[in-house]
Amino acid sequence: MERVVTGEELEDDGVVDNTIRPEVLDEYIGQSEVKENIRVFIEASKIRGEVLDHVLLYGPPGLGKTTLAFIIARELGVNIKTASGPSIEKSGDLAAILSTLEPGDVLFIDEIHRMPRFIEEILYPAMEDFTLDIIIGGEGSSRSIKIDLPPFTLVGATTRVGDLSAPLRDRFGIISKLKFYTTEELTEIIKRTSRVLDMPIDDEAAVELAKRSRGTPRIANRLFKRVRDFALVDKKESIDLEVMEKALDRLKVGKSGLDETDHQLLRAIIERFNGGPVGIDALASSIGEETSTIEDVIEPYLLQEGYLKRTSRGRMVTEKAYKELNINYQGGLFSLDIE
Ligand SMILES: Nc1ncnc2c1ncn2[C@@H]1O[C@H](COP(=O)(O)OP(=O)(O)OP(=O)(O)O)[C@@H](O)[C@H]1O
Ligand SMILES: [Mg+2]
Repeated sequence: MERVVTGEELEDDGVVDNTIRPEVLDEYIGQSEVKENIRVFIEASKIRGEVLDHVLLYGPPGLGKTTLAFIIARELGVNIKTASGPSIEKSGDLAAILSTLEPGDVLFIDEIHRMPRFIEEILYPAMEDFTLDIIIGGEGSSRSIKIDLPPFTLVGATTRVGDLSAPLRDRFGIISKLKFYTTEELTEIIKRTSRVLDMPIDDEAAVELAKRSRGTPRIANRLFKRVRDFALVDKKESIDLEVMEKALDRLKVGKSGLDETDHQLLRAIIERFNGGPVGIDALASSIGEETSTIEDVIEPYLLQEGYLKRTSRGRMVTEKAYKELNINYQGGLFSLDIE
């Protein structure tokens, strides 16, 4: 079965996504520190009459990086051009995008850590001096020319800030980390989605749904849509606790919001590695996932919620993981060196 509680985008998220995506900062729920800082920087750039500094947004999938990039452009009152790291393969691809920019525009590069290194190098002078150095002519007769670009703001998004080269990272004036959302914030997001999609939800059902959304708005919205389908079929005028429980049961989303993939990972550490510590590579091959999927998608929430700990010798589960899986905790013995 497709993983419903993954923060990663799934194919059928798309259509509705655009209607429920907040468009201005005031509608963007949570992330208050990031939001307020960006509000100030946008205001200041307007007062100075200069472009906004380049912005780097990072954090696990589905927390609102793309949404925030579009909001920044909207609040600045400029156009946004989008590209993604892996799609920029040749220097000409980047030059083509840069040459369409108008003064003040936002250039959004998603998955910026996946941009080839030689492309990055073209980006440096573009970010710093708004110039493009390109090489024309063939072997022997080639020369480099400088082209002036209009001032613009680069907004980069990444799930893996550690994979960004230091020179690229240093060229961003504003670096913001998006965090998992609290239950209260997710409840607010669910209520907003319920209004936009015109399907009422009871307060207690909204809170319960929020708790099961793995701290991630994309998951909250996805679960909302699936629960809405169950409500429709059951001919309910609004989503109540009963239909919500029924839907999430069917989707195999437990009370904690953890799903089978999370359980599989925790169970593997307990059963095959004695609770850990276990290195990421051994763990990945034991459950048949990519290490990057574990690091970027599965593990961040488990770490934050304290199911998992990282030690110098690898990942270890905590007592909370045993409880989640209903496995008898024999611990204490090995827990001393992780406190
Ligand atoms: N702060 C927020 N308030 C309300 N809704 C939000 C917020 N952040 C995200 N969302 C909702 O969650 C969905 C996913 O957000 P978004 O696509 O911006 O995530 P992302 O961080 O870019 O993910 P990825 O890493 O996969 O690119 C959006 O369609 C939007 O509806
Ligand atoms: Mg995105």
